[in-house]
Amino acid sequence: MNMRFDPSGPLRGRLTVPADKSLSHRAAIIGAMASEPVRVRNYLDAADTRSTLAAVTQLGAIVERRGDELVIRGCGLRNAVAPCEPIDVGNAGTLMRLLPGWLAFQTGSSFELDGDDSIRRRPVDRIAEPLSLMGARIEARDGRFPPFTVHGAQLTGIDYELPVASAQVKSCVLLAGLVTDATTVVEPVPSRDHTERMLAAAGAPILRVGLPAGGVRTTVRNTDELELGTVEVPGDLSSAAFLIAAGVVVRDSRLVLERVGVNWTRAGFLRILERMGAIVPGDLESPGSFGPGEPVADIEVRNAPIEATTVAAEEVPLAIDELPLVALLGCFAEGDTVVRGAAELRVKESDRIASVVEGLRGLGAEIEALPDGFVVTGTGRLRGGRLQSHGDHRLALLGAVAGLASEEGVEVDGMEAADVSYPGFVDDVAGLVA
Ligand code: S3P
Repeated sequence: MNMRFDPSGPLRGRLTVPADKSLSHRAAIIGAMASEPVRVRNYLDAADTRSTLAAVTQLGAIVERRGDELVIRGCGLRNAVAPCEPIDVGNAGTLMRLLPGWLAFQTGSSFELDGDDSIRRRPVDRIAEPLSLMGARIEARDGRFPPFTVHGAQLTGIDYELPVASAQVKSCVLLAGLVTDATTVVEPVPSRDHTERMLAAAGAPILRVGLPAGGVRTTVRNTDELELGTVEVPGDLSSAAFLIAAGVVVRDSRLVLERVGVNWTRAGFLRILERMGAIVPGDLESPGSFGPGEPVADIEVRNAPIEATTVAAEEVPLAIDELPLVALLGCFAEGDTVVRGAAELRVKESDRIASVVEGLRGLGAEIEALPDGFVVTGTGRLRGGRLQSHGDHRLALLGAVAGLASEEGVEVDGMEAADVSYPGFVDDVAGLVA
């Protein structure tokens, strides 16, 4: 589906963005592992998170809708049922990488996972390696791609240093570690810690220690059961980021985004924006905080001139999904905006270095790809044109925001990809145009 986004007048008003995708996946998976019913308020209703509900239902959990709440009656830690059909993860990389952490200790059972064309290009060796070290067996196409099968086994604990900064891989190992004496994951730089917070809320013995060089060491220990009670999912900062960026670059805009999750391990984009000179007030969580809950805040954003910045490698995991927006902002900033240390972008829903560079260049941006990032020379404007989403929701939304801030508008090819995380984007924007 093609959709045109014309240059916009000021964006004004207050808005609640869709629920957090990362937290919704985790609430469904950890809810399915729990022994007592879990109530989830504000679960994200989008394609990715519907795949997760379908997957946990296939595994024996019961999901009931009660008004605007979901009640998930889990199977308990060790009682997932092996379905006859493969589990279809759709487009959801987080589901594909977290779920095997649970399946890996369903002794004697095997589970096949598959997904759409994009998911079949995304590597699973990064979870297969630690799970194999723990004693599970994973068979993947060409040794590293879906479809793949997880053969559950008795697991032993490992001390694992993450070769790539990835919250998905970390989460997978921590979930598997719940049935071991002790499993430790060392991250050279922190990544989002939603799994750790939710496991702590569910009563799992979990210890998180900051390392002198800036990394984090997280240890999880054997537990018999998880009890999560009620989860209230905040607004998704990664979805809010599209409106925040639009608010910064569309002239005379002034927006308030309500009840957005501001866990500091997700809020790197806001800190980058502040450095660029954008005005984004909000009650943010201080770096280094950890606890069983997820902080929320209203985020206010105003149109303002911005300056270029350099995003350092250690900031990358804290803003990984927002880096395409940093490229867009770089077009409007004064100077060269540089992102390095972000080779992970190449294995997202699309190769997000290639697709962002090609997409924005087609709209008139001065942007060059690097092996692990990009450099954008700000010109203070964007002409407009046509942008391919490549089936990637964040590319489709990037094109939409680019159109609002452009001189001639942007035609986005494949706008339906946005349904994976932000199905109501077009209506939300329409409601904000003054
Ligand atoms: C996610 C982690 C990130 C992010 C993805 C969601 C998560 O991936 O890009 O959209 O929910 O854990 P990596 O952990 O692989 O970097």
